[in-house]
Amino acid sequence: MLQGKKIILGVTGSIAAFKAATLVRLLIKEGADVQVVMSKSATDFITPLTLSTLSKRPVLIEPFKTDTGSWNSHVDWALWADLIIFAPLTANSMAKMSNGQADNLLLAIYLAARCPVFFAPAMDLDMFEHPATQKNISTLEEFGNILIPPSFGELASGLIGQGRMDEPENIVSFLTSYFKKKSPLNGKFALITAGPTYERIDPVRYIGNFSSGKMGFALAETLAMQGAKVKLISGPVSLTPINRNIDLVTVESASEMLDECMKALENADIIIMAAAVADYRPVNIAPEKIKKKTVSLQIELEPTTDILAKMGTMKTEKQILVGFALETNDENSEAIKKLNTKNLDFIVLNSLRDAGAGFGYETNKVSILERNGNETHFDLKPKSEVAIDIVSKIKELMNNQL
Ligand code: CTP
Repeated sequence: MLQGKKIILGVTGSIAAFKAATLVRLLIKEGADVQVVMSKSATDFITPLTLSTLSKRPVLIEPFKTDTGSWNSHVDWALWADLIIFAPLTANSMAKMSNGQADNLLLAIYLAARCPVFFAPAMDLDMFEHPATQKNISTLEEFGNILIPPSFGELASGLIGQGRMDEPENIVSFLTSYFKKKSPLNGKFALITAGPTYERIDPVRYIGNFSSGKMGFALAETLAMQGAKVKLISGPVSLTPINRNIDLVTVESASEMLDECMKALENADIIIMAAAVADYRPVNIAPEKIKKKTVSLQIELEPTTDILAKMGTMKTEKQILVGFALETNDENSEAIKKLNTKNLDFIVLNSLRDAGAGFGYETNKVSILERNGNETHFDLKPKSEVAIDIVSKIKELMNNQL
């Protein structure tokens, strides 16, 4: 959920500032781009060097760079952020936020922000329970800011009570589930095919192809990460899904893949056929290993069912159907033909003429061609990022359906 999100982590002067280091690491691991902004007193608790090393960005503290006569524009940073999280937030900074004071860069960014703001207070229990603090929390909530409540336990003072900044792991799951709930993919069911199919010739041989399954698996991860439940029907590959919302069904042949797709079709909101399905299979599978002979060998092949085309004949108005086209020539017109004859909502075209695109690569260069004639051409990028582009297009179509 946090993949590609631009996050400002505001760190204020509490002993819990040491936890900001772990928080930065976890956010970066989730794929977020993290800009740390510290209040001056926060630098007494943790060094900017630690946080800039972990976030791979210089930490911002001062509004002005007096040595160069330039300034860190609070407005630019506020508009840059997809979300701001204050962790830890002291009683003092919270009081300033609830009163609209902006006497440092972090608070000025807060005032100028349009994105969601989360705050994780950290303070002693009596400070936390004080009516002034409670009033400030309510004020921030009235502003639409989202409280990540402090936990109960032993505080730095030695007292026991509520006031500990929540653990970084919990803060990350808090953020993740917030965005999951907001995602249009939440609760949706996606059916995805991936990988090659193997069509048996005899007990030891098959007709196959070089598909690695990477594109289909990346799509499954992206959809699951954004709240969808995924049935991933894959031919033989050496990949395993990570997200628990992905139900992997492994198959070998085109006909097994078709059977599994038919079982899942009715409940699917989104159907993406990313598998490289064999177009032909041997008419007869030899029961014994075919022996070598000196004469040439003929194997009679018959067409397999085009699974994508079959889904196209059965799909309802509400189901979004996406296909792939891997072409070597007349790319656009061939893909548009498939888009129309297979009744797709859009087709993802990749050309084998583009270096770094297609089977086996970590990267892909695709164009998305839509039924309404829209075309979007993307640069060469990692398949995980291509998956995000494809899922964004699906979300756009879902929003248009509402
Ligand atoms: N596809 C499928 N079942 C098949 C063949 C293809 O579901 N038996 C799907 C693929 O998963 C892909 C799309 O159809 O989403 C296009 O596959 P491709 O092989 O490029 O196209 P074909 O329609 O098979 O046409 P051709 O091979 O002649 O280009």
